[in-house]
Amino acid sequence: MSDQESGVIATVIASHTPRMAYEDKAWDFTLGLIDGLKELGASLRELNPDLIVVNTTHWITTFDWVITSHDHHKGICIAEEAPHLIPELPYDRPGDQAYAEALNDDLNGAEIPSYTTDAKHFHWDYGTAVPLQYLDPESKIPAVLTPTCYASTLDENLQVGRQIDATAKHLGKRAVVIVSNALTHLVVRGPDTWPLPEHMEMDHKFIDMVKAADVDGATNYLPDYARDAKCEMGGRGLGVFLGASKAMEESAGNLSGAQFGPYAQSSASGNANLSLVAA
Ligand SMILES: [Fe+2]
Repeated sequence: MSDQESGVIATVIASHTPRMAYEDKAWDFTLGLIDGLKELGASLRELNPDLIVVNTTHWITTFDWVITSHDHHKGICIAEEAPHLIPELPYDRPGDQAYAEALNDDLNGAEIPSYTTDAKHFHWDYGTAVPLQYLDPESKIPAVLTPTCYASTLDENLQVGRQIDATAKHLGKRAVVIVSNALTHLVVRGPDTWPLPEHMEMDHKFIDMVKAADVDGATNYLPDYARDAKCEMGGRGLGVFLGASKAMEESAGNLSGAQFGPYAQSSASGNANLSLVAA
């Protein structure tokens, strides 16, 4: 368990396929992922985080980073790309306006274009709503959301991950970083189709590096991996995960990596729940 007083205390890659949005209707190949998220969530809650910072894959901005500064998040998530799979998934959870505004100021200070939003009709994407309902089912931990920014490079995503830690330290808050980034993502029609063998091999190489807490190795591998395995969103969220993990490693010393649940397919995408915490 982490005894860090502030900063990033855990980093997570969380699965989010819409076919796992409702546990009672979940497709068979997602059941192990759901159980894994529940187990992972229990271990995260034991760390007593002050907030969750989500970097999500299905809220996409073109040019700028956006940080949600709502005092409270309450609404209905639908999957716009698949409303038959997620027609309505309610959420109701505190936000953290002070952290959101501080992160935004710090990003702009680092010349990363960003602004906050507390737009009344803003609603969560399923990359956020699906994993959070399993990770923290009582919805008590405040959350701040960040999108996938298309104009950002992998390096910028690593930098944002590090900044999430630095801002948490400035405010004396203990933050968990959750990225809802699938691994290989050369999707095809056919929900239970596995990824190509060569892409699964690359996914397992990356997973093994995270489980071995080899943050530097995974970071060096990321550009080739994201390109060759066609990772979801170009692997940008994996960059946030690794940047935040590196910052945590510098504070905490050795890290411990773990996988919760199986490696599973969805429409030829690769999915895994992974975490890093202080060893
Ligand atoms: Fe996705």
